[in-house]
Amino acid sequence: MASDMTPADYEALKSQLNYHSYRYYVLDDPTLPDAEYDRLMQQLQQLEAAHPDWVTPDSPSQRVGAKPMSAFAQIQHALPMLSLDNAFNAQDMRDFNKRLQDRLKSTEEIEYACEPKLDGIAVSIVYRDGLLVQAATRGDGSTGEDITANVRTIGSVPLKLLGEHYPALLEVRGEIYMPKQGFERLNNLARERGEKLFVNPRNAAAGSLRQLDPKVTAARPLEFCCYNVGQVEGSVPDRHTDVLLALRDWGFLINPEMRAVTGVEACLEYFEALGAKRNQLPYDIDGIVFKVNSRALQATLGFVARAPRWAIAHKFPAQEEMTQLLDVEFQVGRTGAVTPVARLEPVFVGGVTVSNATLHNRDEIARLNVKIGDTVIVRRAGDVIPQVVSVITSRRPPDARDVVFPSNCPVCGSEVVQVEGEAAMRCSGGLLCQAQVKEGIKHFASRKAVDIDGLGDKLVEQLVDEGLISSIADLYRLGDKREQLLALERMGEKSADNLLASIDTSKTTTLAKFLFGLGIREVGETTARALATHFGKLSALMAASEPELVALNDIGPVSAASIAHFFADQRNRELIADLQAAGLHWPEHEPVVAESLPLAGQTWVLTGSLEQMTREQAKEKLLALGAKVAGSVSAKTHCVVAGPGAGSKLAKAESLGVAVLNEAEFITQLAAWGQGE
Ligand code: IVH
Repeated sequence: MASDMTPADYEALKSQLNYHSYRYYVLDDPTLPDAEYDRLMQQLQQLEAAHPDWVTPDSPSQRVGAKPMSAFAQIQHALPMLSLDNAFNAQDMRDFNKRLQDRLKSTEEIEYACEPKLDGIAVSIVYRDGLLVQAATRGDGSTGEDITANVRTIGSVPLKLLGEHYPALLEVRGEIYMPKQGFERLNNLARERGEKLFVNPRNAAAGSLRQLDPKVTAARPLEFCCYNVGQVEGSVPDRHTDVLLALRDWGFLINPEMRAVTGVEACLEYFEALGAKRNQLPYDIDGIVFKVNSRALQATLGFVARAPRWAIAHKFPAQEEMTQLLDVEFQVGRTGAVTPVARLEPVFVGGVTVSNATLHNRDEIARLNVKIGDTVIVRRAGDVIPQVVSVITSRRPPDARDVVFPSNCPVCGSEVVQVEGEAAMRCSGGLLCQAQVKEGIKHFASRKAVDIDGLGDKLVEQLVDEGLISSIADLYRLGDKREQLLALERMGEKSADNLLASIDTSKTTTLAKFLFGLGIREVGETTARALATHFGKLSALMAASEPELVALNDIGPVSAASIAHFFADQRNRELIADLQAAGLHWPEHEPVVAESLPLAGQTWVLTGSLEQMTREQAKEKLLALGAKVAGSVSAKTHCVVAGPGAGSKLAKAESLGVAVLNEAEFITQLAAWGQGE
């Protein structure tokens, strides 16, 4: 607590903050999550409020950021580039509003501009007589770096202003950021090339801007969105939102979510509404900025040390937090892949409490150089699974332990091996491994395989753990174990009967679904369907040689090897015989050469709603006829089936002269090709 702190604690806190702001602003390599930095800064501010006599000029509260790097020329800002105070909850927002009303000696509701707080880099761009003459980073608020050459490469930055009625001198301020999609693409590319990954879109934007070669910046997916003006010679409107609209007319990108609202309660509603949309936005935001909309009132209210009185940033829950890596456990998947999972000291991040995060594979552990006991930064953005993005090595305890990848499977003890050319390490136990057995059964029962309704993951675990089943074939013998089934926790007569009925129903399936359900490596839904179509009979597929498989259009050499290997294994052949003996069956047909199917080589598109069948059923029929079914129309599309409600795809087909069938015509055609009901 602030009241217990001594002057020595204050000194320590200041140097800690100074160090971290140097890492953040100068090195572009922060080792502390923003939220933790904010908390330390708040603590410092509270301490300074309680002891104004302690404050020294070197306190981070007395300046903004840190000194810029020397590689770029320095630029003095005509007006300081300030920071914003933060609000962390509704009460902070109401207090802010009350402070303003008190200062203005008015109880009238204040009009606020609401804008997403983009998570990027603040920049100032100066236009003289409509031409871009200079761009600078914020730096320490009074001096920034000259990044004109780099900023000129960003498409959303106008080099010349549009229209005629712009001020003779106009300084535009805003944020340069990297949209989420571009960030993913950039990191995927870096991963493929074995290069260093960016921790988050903000870091990627910062790294892209401080390139000495503008060509590098030009190749990065950056955007500029403006949120204010600085120095102006000439006139701009009085309302802040009208200034932004003027900027839009002059050629700038402004945030489409920007609104003007009246009163603090409306601000809170906006905050909730945008918070709900946060994950769907194409860029990262870390809060909402609320600004008094009247520039005249802004001038009356003025500034305090580091921030304007008339604006505040209401923060969302942070997407990155710091926590401790307690242990690393290894999970075994269906294909035996052994995945390291970080067990974390629970931490609230991205709106939920996270206690596990994936570490992907052994290469990732090496890349992060992570040890057990380390302080790590965990990121959870949207629905993406939580990830450990970096390690704060300066906080490594002396007893930190190396992560040792097991040489034996943690579940069955079989040897763990690395297949050449693969990042994953795999348990070699196959069906002897309980973990693989469980995952294999879950996969077999899943909707896209034989679809056993009511057999969820938990129940599979229970059944295997209690020894009721140890293979997918055992599922079909559960009827003989009704008593044991009823003895399971939370298993009543009714649910047992329902489960047995679903298992019985699943016996009638298709060859494609059965093949997919077997979980043969490299055989996904599409490959399973291609195999079923081509061979028609399971016996024909089982007899096929590897060269025969490779000769098929849709099968590559890796899948062919995996398929041949699977059917060569006596245990798999026995399993299949067992399943067939238990009653699994599917319609078979004579082998078909895919190329001879009526729609071979054609691409079809389904759009609008169909009434006689579902879109999924229509797709099945087209696939069985040898067609590919695509999601969008192009010049290569052969035919579009358009039901009621068809929109842009139908319009595009018509403009490209692509054939269009309605549902009735489609059904007639299907019958002609032998795919009628
Ligand atoms: S207004 C005097 N508006 O947040 C007003 N800032 O913590 C100062 N930011 O340095 C800024 N989106 O980098 C403003 N719509 C927005 C913003 C925004 C992001 C950043 C900006 C600034 C930091 C302040």
